[in-house]
Amino acid sequence: MNPAEMAAIHAACFTQPRPWSEAEFAELSASPQCIIQTAKLGFAIIRLAGPEAELLTIAVHPEARRQGLARSLLNALITDLNSRNCEEIFLEVVDDNTPAIQLYQSAGFENRAIRKDYYNGPNGQKSSALVMRKLL
Ligand SMILES: CC(C)(COP(=O)(O)OP(=O)(O)OC[C@H]1O[C@@H](n2cnc3c(N)ncnc32)[C@H](O)[C@@H]1OP(=O)(O)O)[C@@H](O)C(=O)NCCC(=O)NCCS
Repeated sequence: MNPAEMAAIHAACFTQPRPWSEAEFAELSASPQCIIQTAKLGFAIIRLAGPEAELLTIAVHPEARRQGLARSLLNALITDLNSRNCEEIFLEVVDDNTPAIQLYQSAGFENRAIRKDYYNGPNGQKSSALVMRKLL
């Protein structure tokens, strides 16, 4: 999947946080710290930082949801991290994003912290971030 295709899927998935541009995906794709797992209508990106990994984003096109795609992307990334002896993976998610939070809980992530008013919405509204972590 190329950066333009990633940006198109991201735009179909996100308003808050804002969708990322093709240029941003090109930069992430070129980074040796990033691992990208793709499927036809979805992808997930993690960034390695020593013994930790951060899930930067996961997006499945609305037409392909509830078919196990995100779970399989996440599982593939976690298998990859285990082979690299990574110790934990963490992420931030808008605290009212029930589909994503349920996905992460079902994959064994636990709540670690709330970052109040962390995200700036399009009309000036603020949303809090839930920080979740899974030990590997
Ligand atoms: C969150 C998202 C990636 C899930 O993708 P998906 O491919 O539909 O998810 P899966 O089919 O793999 O579902 C795995 C589990 O996640 C949970 N889940 C997924 N969608 C859900 C929904 N709409 N409501 C409740 N739980 C949901 C369920 O526990 C599900 O397991 P189940 O189907 O056995 O009940 C997708 O909805 C999406 O792209 N959302 C917009 C982008 C986003 O919010 N990304 C996360 C930001 S941190």
